Amino acid sequence: MKYSAPKGMQDILPPDIYLWQHIESTARSLFFRYGFQEIKIPIIESTDIFVRSIGAATDIVEKEMYTFQDKAGRSITLRPEGTASAVRGYVEHSLYNLPSPQKFFYSGPMFRYERPQKGRFRQFYQIGVEAFGVSQPSLDAEVIVMLKNILESIGLRDLGFEINSIGDEQCRPNYKRALVDFFGKNLNELCPDCRRRYATNPLRILDCKVEQCIGLRQGAPAVTDYLCGECREHFDELLSMLQSMNIRYTLNPNLVRGLDYYTRTAFEVTSGHLGAQKAVAAGGRYDKLVKEFGGPPTPALGFAIGMERIAALLKEIAPVDSPAPRVFIATLGKEAEIEGFKIAEDLRTIGLWVEPNYGGASLKSQLRKADRLGAEFAFIIGENELKVGKIQWKNLKKGGQGEVEINDLAPFLRGV
Ligand code: HAM
Repeated sequence: MKYSAPKGMQDILPPDIYLWQHIESTARSLFFRYGFQEIKIPIIESTDIFVRSIGAATDIVEKEMYTFQDKAGRSITLRPEGTASAVRGYVEHSLYNLPSPQKFFYSGPMFRYERPQKGRFRQFYQIGVEAFGVSQPSLDAEVIVMLKNILESIGLRDLGFEINSIGDEQCRPNYKRALVDFFGKNLNELCPDCRRRYATNPLRILDCKVEQCIGLRQGAPAVTDYLCGECREHFDELLSMLQSMNIRYTLNPNLVRGLDYYTRTAFEVTSGHLGAQKAVAAGGRYDKLVKEFGGPPTPALGFAIGMERIAALLKEIAPVDSPAPRVFIATLGKEAEIEGFKIAEDLRTIGLWVEPNYGGASLKSQLRKADRLGAEFAFIIGENELKVGKIQWKNLKKGGQGEVEINDLAPFLRGV
């Protein structure tokens, strides 16, 4: 019997894991500067939390959730995203009593039962942020600029920032009516999914990837022509702030997002190098969700970065070095091996990665192993070396060799 990871799920192993660590540590260092603090949220939630926030008539809720009953018969769902849990936590712990804005980040696996393909997994990882308590567009601008800085600091360039405003509960009903009028004329030509969406969630037709629907939406009314005065003002102010910070963006009136909780600002960052699954990060405002979860009316917004897609891009265009041992200790004989282990322990106390020899192999094969590991130095200890209290060193990167006293190894390594 040969086992493999579940379909659409993967193991992230070295050296790729170093790309992931680089992404995460870069994001963390930027979060610190912008005052975003880490939260940990459960991997499962009660199913209604996702149904109420993401929306019953979305692909995620209709088709993609891993939902099952626990032993007590409760319906629980593996989280398909983090925003719903963050909002549940914000309300549950009355964080609205703290000064605004409250800014949080989280990272971890999300689960969507999608058809796996390049860049699309059933278990995938997000780094997400959520900021609560400020309705002004300055918070939108700050979050978008932070996202851009994170992606650039990670080493990515040439990303497209697409932005839209999808209005609020005042103006969106008018827009939905206009869409229904527009698509009603060609209803029978829409794909079966969009025919359903026409009745339940017509905005989603704008996001359909089926060719005939892409054709049919040419000339569809643009949401930005239907914004009420307040949403228009919010959007215009955001755009002028982004312009003043020299953030290049594209207005995309078809950007409606696949989750129902959004109001006003919606954005997506895309790459031309990824094929169909080109969004590397996406987010927006969700000013009604805290109230929907039983909290006081509290505006909020956030985004999530897709780790797999960022790692794939990074691998292609800006590789990250994998760490390697500073020292491999090659030993000949039992006594030398014991001494080698002692030396390894000493050097580890000063923070170095040291690989000992686990016994047996010839010097030649030990040195070959040191090379394969990418070690910078090989230290060689045999009977003679033990007698005189010295080791032989070889620099495997730059060449060169010599002898050094066992008691002087730490200063030796500091000096080279
Ligand atoms: P989302 O657009 O569903 O938004 O996902 C955000 C990002 O996660 C996507 O742009 C993509 O990079 C990645 N992603 C999504 N699904 C998959 C998948 N199946 N495989 C690989 N990567 C994927 C949200 O999840 C919102 N919670 C973002 C947000 C936070 N909005 C406000 N706050």
